[in-house]
Amino acid sequence: MKSHHHSSLVFSAIILVYFVILAGGIVRISGAGLGCPDWPRCFGRWIPPTDISQIPPHINTGDFNFRLAWTEYINRLAGVISGFVIFGIFLFLVKNYCEKWKMALTVVLLGLISLVLLLFFYIAKINFLIPVILSIILFLILQEGYYLFKYSFRKITVPFFVALLLMGYQGWLGSRVVSLELKPIIVSMHFYFALILVAFLVYSWVHIRQKNNDSFRVESQSHSKNFRRWTLLLFFLSVLQIFGGTKAREALEILYPSREDSSIINLFTENIGRVEVHKYGAFIFSLSIVIFFLYTRKIVGRNSFLYKTVFWILIITLLQHFTGVILYYLAFPAFGQVMHLLFSSVLFVFLFLLVVLNYEPNHPHRQYLSSSATD
Ligand code: HEM
Repeated sequence: MKSHHHSSLVFSAIILVYFVILAGGIVRISGAGLGCPDWPRCFGRWIPPTDISQIPPHINTGDFNFRLAWTEYINRLAGVISGFVIFGIFLFLVKNYCEKWKMALTVVLLGLISLVLLLFFYIAKINFLIPVILSIILFLILQEGYYLFKYSFRKITVPFFVALLLMGYQGWLGSRVVSLELKPIIVSMHFYFALILVAFLVYSWVHIRQKNNDSFRVESQSHSKNFRRWTLLLFFLSVLQIFGGTKAREALEILYPSREDSSIINLFTENIGRVEVHKYGAFIFSLSIVIFFLYTRKIVGRNSFLYKTVFWILIITLLQHFTGVILYYLAFPAFGQVMHLLFSSVLFVFLFLLVVLNYEPNHPHRQYLSSSATD
């Protein structure tokens, strides 16, 4: 495989995670979160039942709904398959971007096996001594792993490895979402960690492109330190706005976990406070993005990578705002909810990408910035 295709592999990992986020959004909207009451199995089976007669006797058949069980199962399957594919891509990256890669792969595999065993024995509380011994082994492996990664292109391999660990963590958090019966704060945590995971993949992606001279083409234009500060500020504003959005959703969910039981409109009026804060926050955020776009248009050429990125950030922000208004005024149509969730995560990643491009000391774009900064 040609080296510049390596970045496409990392990019496909990012797309896969987006599919999982989308699947999670669909599960939430369709009310299928508890479609499988147990985890990791579904009604005690690895493949969900297609008929009520297939449910084992010790499980309550009353909760069975074919559509919900299969929706949740497909979501889990998407998570597991992506996890394996991302693991495969990670092994590929170690082989190509790590000196002494055979040793590195052995350390990674041993480390992961001990981690899984450690978690298994700890959760199952089978024996007190085994987790302690496994922790010591894991510590030794990690120490060895540190030296190996030190001699790799660590801005590629390390963030990807962290994303892989987060993928495992997300699997576990998914089980908590089920066992805690969709507790709103845990659902939000699941979403926050998905965003952090994607951020690590994006960081790795930027560096693999840079390493293979497949860097982002940024034409020479005059822009300043102000631009960098803007990107950071807008990134933090987006984080605040996303946090506020999840708090608004939690407020709407806390009182009436089951939407069939109550009118969504009542719920909305009773929790208007958080939603209003989110609405006014959105106004400030979207306005800042529009100003930022006009500023960018003034200082960089229309064909530049920066201009195009900021243009897309503007478009996604407007779509995000539009879907928010639809949710607010049209009593939460399901499609609007999924899109609002998806656009927010795309917006986060685009702004994160902009920050990385502007603050990475070795990136060609950043080199240009430092040599041409005017203020
Ligand atoms: C433009 C920037 C915006 C961002 C980044 C943003 C982000 C978010 C996020 C991340 C959520 C949580 C979604 C979930 O967990 O399912 C959310 C929920 C929500 N947002 Fe926004 N939002 C924005 C604009 C707006 C606007 C302009 C409105 C209304 C005028 C709005 C109304 C809502 C409502 C009502 C919810 C709760 C939806 C639910 O219960 O499913 N948002 N927002």
